[in-house]
Amino acid sequence: MFPQVINAQEEIEKSGLDDLIIKLDHIAYRVKKGEGEKAMAELANLVPYKEYKTFKVASMNAITSAIKLHDTLPVIVVSEGLSEDSVVEKYVKKYGGRIHHLAYLVNDIDKVVEIQRKRGVEFTTPVIIGSEEEGIKQIFTVPTETANHIIEYIQRFGDFDGFFTPSNIGELMKSTERLGEA
Ligand SMILES: [Fe+2]
Repeated sequence: MFPQVINAQEEIEKSGLDDLIIKLDHIAYRVKKGEGEKAMAELANLVPYKEYKTFKVASMNAITSAIKLHDTLPVIVVSEGLSEDSVVEKYVKKYGGRIHHLAYLVNDIDKVVEIQRKRGVEFTTPVIIGSEEEGIKQIFTVPTETANHIIEYIQRFGDFDGFFTPSNIGELMKSTERLGEA
């Protein structure tokens, strides 16, 4: 048995997070400039993923595409920088192409963040990004020490079915800038 794991599980259960965090929503990759299509083709060659949505994040000089396996979650999101100074390209220069974050759907993000901050969890931004009016709220934790990827908490409102709004993703990507430069 793993005492540290049992301890973490007990703490999470006590804190009430069990009922607030629902399921894995998406897995986000960051890949080298010019390799987004190759990355998606690689995955689509192994698993019958279908192209789902593509967004350009003008402010961060990046492009993000989502692919989906039938109607299941998690969706796979692939981002690549469009210039050398893009935060995505800087990250990839440092770590190589890899999984950047795992996003978990939650049903009360304010509560989740409040509980986690009290427990000492650190986030890349001081506040939650987005709003109910925009249909989405999300936040990144700092990377895990063991695998160096981020956990995202995400909550959607109304019929919004995206992964970010154009302004949100810019802010989110920006929030990880210092990680790429560290
Ligand atoms: Fe995400």
